Amino acid sequence: DRGGFDHYMLKEIHDQPIAVAKTIENRCDIEKGQINLRKMTLFNTKLKEINRIQIIACGTSYYAGCLSRYFIEKFTGIPVDVELASESRYRTPTVNVHTLSIAVSQSGETIDTLQAIKFAKANKAQTVAMVNVPGTSIGHECDDECMLYAGPEVGVASTKAFSAQLSALILLGLTIAQEQEKLPKEKIAEYINELVKVPSFIEKVLTLSSKIKEIAKKYCDVNSILFIGRGYQWPIALEGALKLKELSYIHAEGYAAGELKHGPIALIDENMTVVCLAPKDQYYEKTISNIEEIRARGGKILSVGTEGDTELKNISNDFIGIPECSEIVLPFLTTVPMHLFAYWIAVHKGTDVDQPRNLAKSVTVE
Ligand code: M6R
Repeated sequence: DRGGFDHYMLKEIHDQPIAVAKTIENRCDIEKGQINLRKMTLFNTKLKEINRIQIIACGTSYYAGCLSRYFIEKFTGIPVDVELASESRYRTPTVNVHTLSIAVSQSGETIDTLQAIKFAKANKAQTVAMVNVPGTSIGHECDDECMLYAGPEVGVASTKAFSAQLSALILLGLTIAQEQEKLPKEKIAEYINELVKVPSFIEKVLTLSSKIKEIAKKYCDVNSILFIGRGYQWPIALEGALKLKELSYIHAEGYAAGELKHGPIALIDENMTVVCLAPKDQYYEKTISNIEEIRARGGKILSVGTEGDTELKNISNDFIGIPECSEIVLPFLTTVPMHLFAYWIAVHKGTDVDQPRNLAKSVTVE
């Protein structure tokens, strides 16, 4: 049931507030300002004993892992490695009883993620499955299951699962910080208070859909688009680029903004479009100077920034403004325009949005 939307993907983008709410609601005890450990269902893992975290995933799930790393490391002080499952399988990552290996997979059936988590388990790591479907192979393999409650995702392009994964990974980071007493109680309470606001903030960004539809019209005939961001906006740039290529077959690449001058800036001329993620966060000034460099070379700039930021708007060809919010809410909000932009470009181009060519929803072959 597409719920009145033209495509499953559009419905699933609009399902994001509820996907996040369901994934976090019972797990956040707002009154006590604590994570409800029992609801995280981590019954077998010994969170107090962990000194290393490994996140294993593919595609969009991998980007959710890359993003969450910024938060988990900040909350816990524990080193986090994010591994592409298809690569991790062919290395010999060092894991032991003090490693928490988290397999992040919407379907719970991705073969590479399954094999990589099997390796971690065989080498004594504590394993957690973060999956969106009950009764999966990955869920079966792991010591514990920390479910996502995004609801069934039908569109091949993963959207609401990404937001649910991000919220669950942030919660898991807070849980470890709580168990290991790495953050003061008040700080945990503060983060929880912010996290529960995410669904209503996403609702606000969803109202930008028709504006993004208009902007997308201008970019459907380009040959290539770069996406840039700094800090935790970088994995969102990667996610934006993946969505665009997958849905519209336009070449796209995500880059850490600071890497531009180490190569990709050579690509910039008046034919290049760059999607710039530059909300008002700790990286803002630096990202703005990257945008200036692109502008000086004639590149077209589509920026996603904080509402009312005239400085950014004035140096951009197009500007999408998201509401001002705290650092923990921010990545959820800059993701939504990435999904909507790719969606509307695909619709304008007339590609098969819910079932792009050459792709399968669940990749169960190597
Ligand atoms: O089911 P999984 O989360 O393990 O799937 C991983 C990737 O195959 C998946 O995220 C893929 O990259 C999506 N089509 C991206 O939109």
